[in-house]
Amino acid sequence: MNRAFSPFVKSLLVAALALTAAAVQAEGSAHAAATAPKADAAKGGTLFSNGDAARGLPACVSCHGEAGNSTISVNPKLAGQNAGYLNKQLLNFAGPERNQPVMTTYAKMLSDQEKLDIATYLAAQTSKPNAAKNKDTVEIGKKIYRGGIAEKNVPACASCHGASGAGIPVQYPRLAGQHQDYTVAQLGLFKADGRKNSAQMSTIAKRMSDDEMKAVADYIAGLK
Ligand code: HEC
Ligand code: HEC
Repeated sequence: MNRAFSPFVKSLLVAALALTAAAVQAEGSAHAAATAPKADAAKGGTLFSNGDAARGLPACVSCHGEAGNSTISVNPKLAGQNAGYLNKQLLNFAGPERNQPVMTTYAKMLSDQEKLDIATYLAAQTSKPNAAKNKDTVEIGKKIYRGGIAEKNVPACASCHGASGAGIPVQYPRLAGQHQDYTVAQLGLFKADGRKNSAQMSTIAKRMSDDEMKAVADYIAGLK
C-alpha cells in the first residue's frame, strides 16, 4: 500500500523542498536589502562641519560655507544639490574622471559610506539665493538657458537642468544660485577636457564661446 503512494509522496516532498529553497532565497535578498549601505545624514553633517583632525581631513565648511552655502565664488555652493550627483562627484574626484588637487586629496580620504553620508546631508540643506550681476548680458544668458543656441546646435540648458535650475535627481545637477565664477570655470573645464565625467556636457561646452559661457553663468546665478 505504502509503496503505491510513494511516487506521490515523493513529488510532495520535492515540491516542499522547492518551496523551502524559494523561501530561503527570498529571505536572503530581504537580508541583502537590509544590509545595503544606508546614508547617515547626521554623521555626514558632523564630518562636513568639523572634518576629522586625526586623519588630517579639513572641515568642508571652511571652503564650502555654513551648511554648504559657500560665499567664496570659486568654491561651489553645495546646499540643496541632489545627493546622487554629489556622491558621484566625490567618487569621480577620487578616480580619474575629475581631477582637482584639493578635492582629489580629500575625496580619497573619505570612505564610500562617508561620501554618501555627506551627500545626503548636503541635499537636505537649503540653498541661499544669489543674484545675476551683469544687466548687459542677462537677456542673452536667459535665451541660451531656455532656448539654447540653434545655429551652434547647443541645446537648452533648461531641458536637462530644469526651467528654474533645480536639476532633476539623480542625473542632472542643480545649477540655480551657483556662483558665476564656478560655473564659468566648470564649462571651461568641460570644454578643455579638464573635467571628463560627462560626455554630454563636454559636447555642449565645446560649442560655446567664452562670452556665451559668462552670460549663461550670470543668468544661472540669479535663478531661484
Ligand atoms: C580648500 C578648500 C576646499 C575644502 C576644504 C573642500 N573643498 Fe570641496 N571644492 C573646492 C573647490 C575649489 C571645488 C571646485 C573643484 C573644481 O574646480 O572642479 C570643490 C568642489 C567640491 C564638490 C563638487 C561640487 C559640484 O558642484 O560639482 C564637492 C561635492 C565637494 N567639493 C565636497 C567637499 C567636501 C565633502 C569637503 C570636505 C571633506 C570639501 N569639499 C572640502 C574646495 C574645497
Ligand atoms: C542633455 C542634458 C544636458 C544639457 C542640455 C545641459 N546639461 Fe549641464 N549637465 C548635464 C549633466 C548630466 C551634468 C552632470 C555631469 C556629472 O555627472 O558630472 C551636467 C553638469 C553641468 C554643470 C556642472 C555643475 C557643477 O555643479 O559642477 C554645469 C555648470 C552645467 N551642466 C551647465 C550647463 C549649461 C550652461 C547648459 C546649457 C548651455 C547645460 N548644462 C546643458 C546635462 C546637461
